[in-house]
Amino acid sequence: MLPEIAESVPVFVAGGIGRGEAIAGYLDMGAAGVQLGTRFVCATESIAHPNFKKAFIRASARDAVASVQIAPRLPVIPVRALKNAGGELFTAKQREVAQSLDEGSVAMAEAQLQIEHYWAGALRRAVIDGDVEHGSVMAGQSVGMVTKEEPIADIIASLMAEAATALDKRAA
Ligand SMILES: Cc1cc2nc3c(=O)[nH]c(=O)nc-3n(C[C@H](O)[C@H](O)[C@H](O)COP(=O)(O)O)c2cc1C
Repeated sequence: MLPEIAESVPVFVAGGIGRGEAIAGYLDMGAAGVQLGTRFVCATESIAHPNFKKAFIRASARDAVASVQIAPRLPVIPVRALKNAGGELFTAKQREVAQSLDEGSVAMAEAQLQIEHYWAGALRRAVIDGDVEHGSVMAGQSVGMVTKEEPIADIIASLMAEAATALDKRAA
């Protein structure tokens, strides 16, 4: 699908990209560029709390799980984050609110608001305050490729070198 779309509009591919080989692959398929988030969280220049960076360095791809939504009538914004107690408690909160809804002790609008409010500020709690157990440790599956804190210039240099090698191999 990417090659067809990229013929008419510039496409930037995002999500799960951790190495230059993947960048080369998408450029080869016609992408104008890529967007990486997770790979830069542990940059020396990143203001993320040391606990947040440590959680990234320890995590593997399987630890970055999509948010759980227990009932379609109580929508949850889908995000990927590292498994932690906060995620479990959020699932429990959804069950509790769904039960209140079934019992008629809460109206639909109020129930949806309770779900939304419960997780509000959770990203800040983890990234800035460093509470990686109860905050939302948002991370893509490329978190498994984050192994140390390093300057942005080094991350970019690695990505560029990997992409260039991959593109050269394809051209040969
Ligand atoms: C710490 C962190 C916070 C993020 N916050 C948001 C957000 O508030 N809204 C959003 O749409 N995406 C958010 N994202 C997801 C980014 O959009 C995503 O990282 C980006 O598209 C690239 O994907 P990647 O992280 O797999 O490289 C966040 C990602 C991280 C790592």
